[in-house]
Amino acid sequence: MFDGNRRLQVMGAFVFLFLGSAGVVYGAEGPAAPTGLRCEYLSNPMGVDVQKPRFSWVLHHTERAQMQTAYQILIAGSAEGLGRDAGDIWDSGKVESSDSTQVGYAGKGLSSGKKYYWKVRYWDTAGNASPYSAAAQFEMGLLSRDDWKGQWIEGNLLRKEFDLEGKIVRARAYVTALGYYELRINGEKVGRNVLDPAFTTYPKRVLYTTYDVTRRLRSGKNAFGAMLGGGWATLGRRFFDPEVGPYYKAPALLLQVNIEFEGGKTISVVSDGSWKATQGPIVSDSVYDGEVYDARREQPGWDQPGFDDSAWSAAQTAEGSTGVLSAQMMPPIRVVDSIVPRSISSPMPYVFVFDMGQNMSGWVQLRVQGPAGTRVTLRFAELVYPDGTINRENLGGAKSRDIYTLKGQGEETYEPRFTYHGFRYVEVTGFPGTPSLDSLRGRVVHTAVGAAGSFVASKQILNDIQRLIHWSQLTNLFSIPTDCDQRNERQGWMGDAQATAEEAMMNFDMAAFYTNFIRDIRDAQFPDGSLPDTVPRKYGGVPGDLGWQTAYPLLCWYMWQQYGDRRILEENYDALKKYVAFLRSHAQDNVYRLHWEGDWVELAHTPGDYIGDVWYYYDVSLFSKMAQVLGKSDEAASYGQLAGQIKDALNRAFFDAHTDNYANRTQTANAMALSLDLVPKEHREAVVRSLTDDIVYGHNTHLTTGFIGVKFLMPLLTSLGRSDLAYDLAVQTTYPSWGYMVERGATTLWELWQDKSGPGMNSHDHIMFGSVGAWFYNALGGINLDPESVGYQHIRIAPQIVEDLHWASASVDTIRGTVSSSWSHSPGSIAIDVTVPVSSDAQVVVPAEAQMTDVVIWEGGRVVWEDGRYVSGDPGVKAATQQGRIFTFQVGSGNYSFRLAGGE
Ligand code: BGC
Repeated sequence: MFDGNRRLQVMGAFVFLFLGSAGVVYGAEGPAAPTGLRCEYLSNPMGVDVQKPRFSWVLHHTERAQMQTAYQILIAGSAEGLGRDAGDIWDSGKVESSDSTQVGYAGKGLSSGKKYYWKVRYWDTAGNASPYSAAAQFEMGLLSRDDWKGQWIEGNLLRKEFDLEGKIVRARAYVTALGYYELRINGEKVGRNVLDPAFTTYPKRVLYTTYDVTRRLRSGKNAFGAMLGGGWATLGRRFFDPEVGPYYKAPALLLQVNIEFEGGKTISVVSDGSWKATQGPIVSDSVYDGEVYDARREQPGWDQPGFDDSAWSAAQTAEGSTGVLSAQMMPPIRVVDSIVPRSISSPMPYVFVFDMGQNMSGWVQLRVQGPAGTRVTLRFAELVYPDGTINRENLGGAKSRDIYTLKGQGEETYEPRFTYHGFRYVEVTGFPGTPSLDSLRGRVVHTAVGAAGSFVASKQILNDIQRLIHWSQLTNLFSIPTDCDQRNERQGWMGDAQATAEEAMMNFDMAAFYTNFIRDIRDAQFPDGSLPDTVPRKYGGVPGDLGWQTAYPLLCWYMWQQYGDRRILEENYDALKKYVAFLRSHAQDNVYRLHWEGDWVELAHTPGDYIGDVWYYYDVSLFSKMAQVLGKSDEAASYGQLAGQIKDALNRAFFDAHTDNYANRTQTANAMALSLDLVPKEHREAVVRSLTDDIVYGHNTHLTTGFIGVKFLMPLLTSLGRSDLAYDLAVQTTYPSWGYMVERGATTLWELWQDKSGPGMNSHDHIMFGSVGAWFYNALGGINLDPESVGYQHIRIAPQIVEDLHWASASVDTIRGTVSSSWSHSPGSIAIDVTVPVSSDAQVVVPAEAQMTDVVIWEGGRVVWEDGRYVSGDPGVKAATQQGRIFTFQVGSGNYSFRLAGGE
């Protein structure tokens, strides 16, 4: 027992370092208005083409341990109607339910192109109603192919002039392209999206974007202008280039602008043969090679009414894509930041090299003044040679350069439209005079997903690695999850996608993005049920390696776990079943023997046959779990049985009971078997020993895995109670390790553990090793889903308080609200601050030091554990148990500050 003095000292020593805040201002006591209203994971989306959209909101309450016991949603056809609390489209009434996510629309049919206004309120545990939320909106897209009146038209520069009569009350542009477009109305670019639309399997599906253009149009003369680029649609096949050639010969535009006038009249202006076309200033464009732009060919006024287009020809109509036109329901690609170059050097006469200080994706904005016809060439690189010149050996077949020819009229500003580069350095040649730091700005471009998480810890190398993960993840989001951003790939390699999805979901708001990508995967599925290595398919094996194909079931499963997305499971169930049937048809005697990559970029080779079998087992058991979730218990049982047979076959083929090792004893081999619980019980401990011995004694606490193996290894070590060893690997700075990349000056994660810079495969911006980011949140931060729960309804806060770390702090904006966990440790005391969203609950695992005796635990100043017993009475804390040195508290929603102290 402590004496009073000691207790005071301990209390005083606790510093409230990490007080989180949900950013809600509470007025009165009780339930506050819901915030964070989303429709199909998006806030106020325009262009929703799901007939029964799903809604979610975040709850707030001034008291702890609060639940939503009921909700009411109102949806109105007008803002005024909603203001009067009239749910003329749908009034859910008071629905008794704790669901505040994935709530499906159940009103009357929603109409194409129509905008709806909604709000929600909830009732708390005591039956008190919250105020209504602020109003949110969603607008339906064009729901059927018949809504589309236009034709696909081809061309480089396109324009259309037209007259409008009457007062315009509403106008919507629905736009897409095979390739990329920039739409302009009356001289101005519409919207802030770049590299739009998303990369899809265009012949099957093209995504359109909806813009509110009401204020762009005017009564009288108007003009539309469109610039088109080939993007992924026309990307050709050369030596080293994609294995699948271009989808189309030329880029094409499909546009429809629906205009509503006062009095109710509506008209549509559409893309068709009445448009005019010409060759514009973009001489050539390619995602890999860059853009060639001749400003002398600009035609001022081309996108405004009154321009003389008599020299232009009629636009060619084209068959275009006959696939589905779907609304692009995910964050667009945008220029998200501007970077001032860090330095400029001139390694050779007339050659200038700008250092952005950060490996990034996007392009640069050039500011230049000089005589007409001057050609400035910008060449991009991730690396420089020792003499300061750029090293482009790792770009493969990508030319990655932009060439700008000046028009010679004062200061000119240029940035490309239809390409992007992965680079830290920019070489400028042909510049008239000497450039300054102000001659270039780095323009950071990627899919503009919002931040969802933060992780920071007292060990700097972890924060450095987290920064690399952050950059590599973002710079590899270009409407699909890509492998890299610099060489001639930038593909949706599915292995990379599955390896990093959990990390991405902790760091960023990924729900809409993966919803889209999962549909892309389904679109890319072959008739026999198999899947390609890349989606959309451009590169790679057919069928893909199992570690790549497995992205399909895994991403569906992660959507279920992280967001509670049952619809994803429902919608993909049949296609997943087909996929499993494909695997089965290639697995005589329950062994699957088609493989290519195995454990990619590994240091110790693990046989592909073995890895293939493990994935086969994993996929079948996951499918069985999905069947269970969907209530298909017969199928769940039969696939569960099949999984059991695969496991037996795998153990027969690959388990060596004499040495207690799998396959050829690599870290990957043993880690995969242990993670998936393949190991016969009586051998488990010995296999664990084989694995940890290999890490510690065999490799001096270093990894030998590729990116497949390491994803299993880190969480496995934590589940084995060896977070200390996982931590040692995480903070390792000698080769091979993440820290080694940091020490060698990396600003994004590498593709290889090795520091290479030659012509071979060695991208300096790959995200696949970033899977360790999920471990940062789960293990060091301690934020976990309860294994029996999805969507953060039941949470498990279990920070791994490892010796060398003094504190760590993590927070994730989950679908149910902010979950955070911050802890600090000093000899004799441990503090953990926790935030649990309303309607969720958590187990908070507070570990004592190994030698501690007489443990006392406080929460917010009240004793909750003393004399070996739980002390009740603290609001929100419902129960506590002790198992050895682990104390587990059951808490309801709210903010908590646990403090543990003990003697020796
Ligand atoms: C990509 C990888 C990918 C691999 C598979 C590489 O070229 O960059 O990230 O997963 O190929 O074959």
